[in-house]
Amino acid sequence: MTASALSFRLAVLFVIAGMAMGIGMAMSQDHSIMPAHAHLNLLGWVSLFLFGIYYERRPALDTSRLAIIQVAVWSIGTVVLTIAVAALHLGYTAFDPLAAIASLTVLAAMLMFAYFVFRPARYLNPTPTGRLTPAE
Ligand code: HEM
Repeated sequence: MTASALSFRLAVLFVIAGMAMGIGMAMSQDHSIMPAHAHLNLLGWVSLFLFGIYYERRPALDTSRLAIIQVAVWSIGTVVLTIAVAALHLGYTAFDPLAAIASLTVLAAMLMFAYFVFRPARYLNPTPTGRLTPAE
């Protein structure tokens, strides 16, 4: 599977979970886990979908193992951060170290992405041949 396909699939799963969490908060009128909902949606849906768009426009990167690892690290960090932030806001202070580890995990994944973005220009340009159709 390509990094973009993995990003899009995981992003959709994350937003379904995030929306369910939002509906749960609204129905219970208990918004205490709102920061977890916000992080799940913004890291898991918005950011991951944006990664997918970036990768899809760079076919060489899209098929690389490193990009798949970046998506996987980001996604694992997002799941753990969401759980830890929810637990903290429910009063389970023991989750503080887990939240710290998860936040460093997503930072590491973002640094990997920054490496892709700042690499020499020959890696950055979208491959135009991917969009061409043969003349009749
Ligand atoms: C079924 C869909 C959704 C429902 C029912 C829902 C519900 C909620 C609720 C009840 C709150 C708490 C508001 C408050 O206490 O002030 C909230 C906050 C928030 N939601 Fe959602 N949400 C949904 C989808 C989304 C999506 C898709 C995103 C992001 C792409 C998102 C981002 C946020 C953010 C950033 C906050 C925090 C807002 C603040 O700081 O005041 N939500 N949502």
